Amino acid sequence: MSELTRFSVSLDKELLDKFDGQIESDRYPTRSKAIADLIRSKIVAREWVGDGEVAGAIIIVYDHHKHGLTNSLTSVQHEYYKLIISSQHVHLDHDNCLEIVVVKGDAREIEALARALKVIKGVKHSSLSMATTGTSI
Ligand code: NI
Repeated sequence: MSELTRFSVSLDKELLDKFDGQIESDRYPTRSKAIADLIRSKIVAREWVGDGEVAGAIIIVYDHHKHGLTNSLTSVQHEYYKLIISSQHVHLDHDNCLEIVVVKGDAREIEALARALKVIKGVKHSSLSMATTGTSI
């Protein structure tokens, strides 16, 4: 972490009161930490529309009995193997599986992988958690 800098901000009182109420219920230790997190999340969101490297996780839930589904999931993941750092498979119950695919690379390609997994017939749920490599925040 680089050196700390103090700065002052003028804000509408109602807005600041709402913010303070939220950070109190979130149990933030300080307003500075809450503001720093907001700034970081804005920077991370910008990373996902830029050209740099990003990281994240794709979560999918599916019924493994669905014919051809597991083959399709494997084929798509092999197609995008350069983006995939690891994947974890969890058997949720007799029918349902949850898979976490950890990814790092170009944002457009990761979004294409997430879409390719989402549209496979039999995938019940799919989400992409857009995180960061952490190098720029
Ligand atoms: Ni399973």
